[in-house]
Amino acid sequence: MIPSRVTLVEVGPRDGLQNESVPVGAAQKIELVRRLQAAGCREIEVTSYVSPKWVPQMADNAQVMAGIERRAGVRYAVLTPNLQGFEAARAGRPDEIVVFGAASEAFSRRNINCSVAESIERFAPVVAAAHAAGIKVRCAISCALGCPYQGEVSADEVERVVLLMRGIGVDHCGIADTLGVGTPRRVQAALARALRHFPAAEVSGHFHDTYGQALANIYASLELGIATFDTSIAGLGGCPYAKGATGNVATEDVVFMLHGMGIATGIDLDPLVDAGAFISGVLGRPPVSRAGRALLAKRGLAFA
Ligand code: HMG
Ligand code: MG
Repeated sequence: MIPSRVTLVEVGPRDGLQNESVPVGAAQKIELVRRLQAAGCREIEVTSYVSPKWVPQMADNAQVMAGIERRAGVRYAVLTPNLQGFEAARAGRPDEIVVFGAASEAFSRRNINCSVAESIERFAPVVAAAHAAGIKVRCAISCALGCPYQGEVSADEVERVVLLMRGIGVDHCGIADTLGVGTPRRVQAALARALRHFPAAEVSGHFHDTYGQALANIYASLELGIATFDTSIAGLGGCPYAKGATGNVATEDVVFMLHGMGIATGIDLDPLVDAGAFISGVLGRPPVSRAGRALLAKRGLAFA
């Protein structure tokens, strides 16, 4: 059942950087994308087309999308919360867009300023417009394992939103543990609800690592045949509307684990570690990635 090949969607440039209060220049974001694709990342979430008043760090979305060096075989994704975002995103020629909803009403209101039902009404024309333009649509269902405002979130609540997303025709269903509170059996229970309505190839896990559970949760997902995960270079990330939650699971750590299990990713760990060191240098702190730090230390290059 455990897949022999896994696709990692690198979300560092978006999820990773959106939470940084110090502005990172477009040139540095473009350089990060260049390094990630040089390391073999084939799916990169580059930026988001959200309100610059809400998330100032993503205000340079158009500049970043225009500036990246496109490589054949690499797919570039962006977040679009509504038609306004989708229309703005089109000029950047994304291969994929992400509509992001939540399993909890309270988080939906804080993150995108509307109820779950209203969010689905907003996403429906975005999905239709993207499909008309030949663009694949992924959804993210936030707070699938817990909500900072509501607390517990049940698998029934997750499945409700999975069905709503399925109903408007999204192609791929991402189950997101925004807070990083999920543990393996609960993660399996949430994913099982997505697997009732989407094939395994179109279900992914997005695990923030706040409580150190993300690698275990990825292993638990592999046991269900899930072979796509969002990961973030150097372990960067967080959501501005989920205070206290830390970054996504670090790409370097996931690659280290998967390669150790004989599972292919197409990613070359050494240049990946370099990409992590690069962006950590820009941010002026060591990578959160344990594997990244260990490999840098082994090279005698402990992060200064
Ligand atoms: P709103 O205020 O309800 O929108 O925000 P509105 O339609 O009422 O418009 C109000 C103003 O926003 C107007 O501007 C619009 O032009 C502008 P004004 O006239 O006041 O100058 N506006 C936009 N500007 C740029 N791009 C747009 C856009 N839409 C409206 N697309 C909105 C609704 C969704 C825009 C807002 O709530 C928002 O931007 N939220 C940010 C959400 C966000 O980026 N969160 C982080 C990403 S999600 C995440 O991290 C979770 C994930 O990683 C999975 C996980 O871990 O859980 C994916
Ligand atoms: Mg996230």
